[in-house]
Amino acid sequence: MKIIAANWKMNHCFDETDEWLEVFLKHVGTVDNWSKKVEAVLCPPAILLDYIDSELMEGSFDFLEEVMKQDGREFEDYSAEELNEILIRERPIKIGAQDCHDERKGSFTGNMSATMLTKVGCQYVILGHSERRTHQLESDALVAKKVKAALDQKLIPIICVGESKEMRDQGKHLAFVKNQILNSVPQDVTFETLIIAYEPIWSIGTGIVPSLEQIAEMSEYIHQIFAENFAGNSKEQFMLYGGSVTSLNSQKILKIDNIGGLLVGGASLDAEEFIKICTFE
Ligand code: PGA
Repeated sequence: MKIIAANWKMNHCFDETDEWLEVFLKHVGTVDNWSKKVEAVLCPPAILLDYIDSELMEGSFDFLEEVMKQDGREFEDYSAEELNEILIRERPIKIGAQDCHDERKGSFTGNMSATMLTKVGCQYVILGHSERRTHQLESDALVAKKVKAALDQKLIPIICVGESKEMRDQGKHLAFVKNQILNSVPQDVTFETLIIAYEPIWSIGTGIVPSLEQIAEMSEYIHQIFAENFAGNSKEQFMLYGGSVTSLNSQKILKIDNIGGLLVGGASLDAEEFIKICTFE
């Protein structure tokens, strides 16, 4: 199963979210076993997280009935935590945040902790996106602290790495990404608990996509870095590709060995287009 994550960045508000969810959920309703085919993840602006969580909760009771039937249990037999866990696990699109702070709480104006994200139904959090590294000057060391904070709250971090055009032109892209990974991923984590998104900066929002060979080379290299430096085994969804993904190139990229899914920016703003990307062979 592949992960297809939508990174809305600072786009869409309540009205657009309603429209997007309406189209998306209507489509999901027409597909058998949707959740077994794709792990769709929506990473909206933080202000929408709680709203989307509530909207998805409302639609989740059908799934709950299914689960109760399979378990042979009645509603009263479940604890509140169990119910919450099922409602989040069974939803047709999971929720992710675009960032979190590395501390649990405190005087950090404008920030949100990983603990808070879990309260609004998040299962994923994007960390170290190149836009944050550039505009908020996030260092590898800070990203590593955030990854730790996310893992402590059982969130799945989607850690973004990727080289600039300059690095690629100089042939230093592999070394650059290796360095980024070794410094942005805490030493004591295991392979299975996190996701790496390879997003070359020169491809983000530019319409320029690396060749399939370039993506494959990096994917293999990142797997090797993990095998040599971290404990545990790789899982199918370990590595995502991101950068100018659309429904025109997504299928080919998903066929590359070791690519476990996609992180989609611009193209994910349109529900129809996102659905097309989620629908692969
Ligand atoms: P893009 O963005 O798909 O618009 O290139 C991807 C990302 O930044 O995650």
